[in-house]
Amino acid sequence: MIILVGGEKGGSGKSCLAQNLAVYLASECQLTVMLVDCDPQRTTANWVQARNERPELTKLHCVQMFGKIRDDLSSLANHYEAVVVDCGGQDTLAQRAAMSVANFALLPLRPKRRDLQTVPHIDELLNTSLMFNPDLNAAFVMTQCPSLPNQAKRILEAKSVCQSWEIRVLDALTYQRNIYDDSEEAGSSVMEMEPNGKAASELRAIFNELLGEANARTLELRYARSVQLVEREEMQYGIG
Ligand SMILES: Nc1ncnc2c1ncn2[C@@H]1O[C@H](COP(=O)(O)OP(=O)(O)O)[C@@H](O)[C@H]1O
Ligand SMILES: [Mg+2]
Repeated sequence: MIILVGGEKGGSGKSCLAQNLAVYLASECQLTVMLVDCDPQRTTANWVQARNERPELTKLHCVQMFGKIRDDLSSLANHYEAVVVDCGGQDTLAQRAAMSVANFALLPLRPKRRDLQTVPHIDELLNTSLMFNPDLNAAFVMTQCPSLPNQAKRILEAKSVCQSWEIRVLDALTYQRNIYDDSEEAGSSVMEMEPNGKAASELRAIFNELLGEANARTLELRYARSVQLVEREEMQYGIG
């Protein structure tokens, strides 16, 4: 499957989500994962480079790609169970190409006016992509939300702006927490720094809500394969 993390606004948390998603899929779901960095600033590519110098962390693969990457992404998807694309911060050719072939698009937005102003243009991008890729499953996710109860209205209002464009908005969201920034140090992730912390739980909730069905299918396949393997071994060794 191909999952793109995109949108138009810098700083909304695209690279952060793409990196944590890659760690989640590789470490917790045991999938083979390729990260694709489409941002010339190399945020994710540099993070992977730092990470792969630390043998205690699960190794990740990463390539940089720009421009018409549709065929390249399809061919990566034949070799890796999950291809996670960090689309950078603009309406680039790479982002459009990724949208035309991806299974999922995760679109982070902060509940702030300037982020919400990008929604109409993202809607246009999605509509064009859906003509080529009708199965694209796209969803906004609210990030860096204020946790004070008197600010909850802001989050609800932001969600309703997205819903007014008839685009799916995930129930799960991220709150403003220092661990997101701290965990990026030296190629680490939230999931590894505090696996049982609140931030790790909100990330898992986002990934599960986005991938729900596909995840379940993959896990079922995995289970079926392992059962077959056990049965084959039992026959081979005459046990069971
Ligand atoms: N939920 C959050 N709480 C606090 N900081 C966050 C959160 N999500 C992301 N960040 C931080 O915001 C900054 C920008 O995130 P980044 O993923 O680089 O954005 P983008 O790739 O969209 O430009 C990073 O320092 C990141 O650690
Ligand atoms: Mg980025």
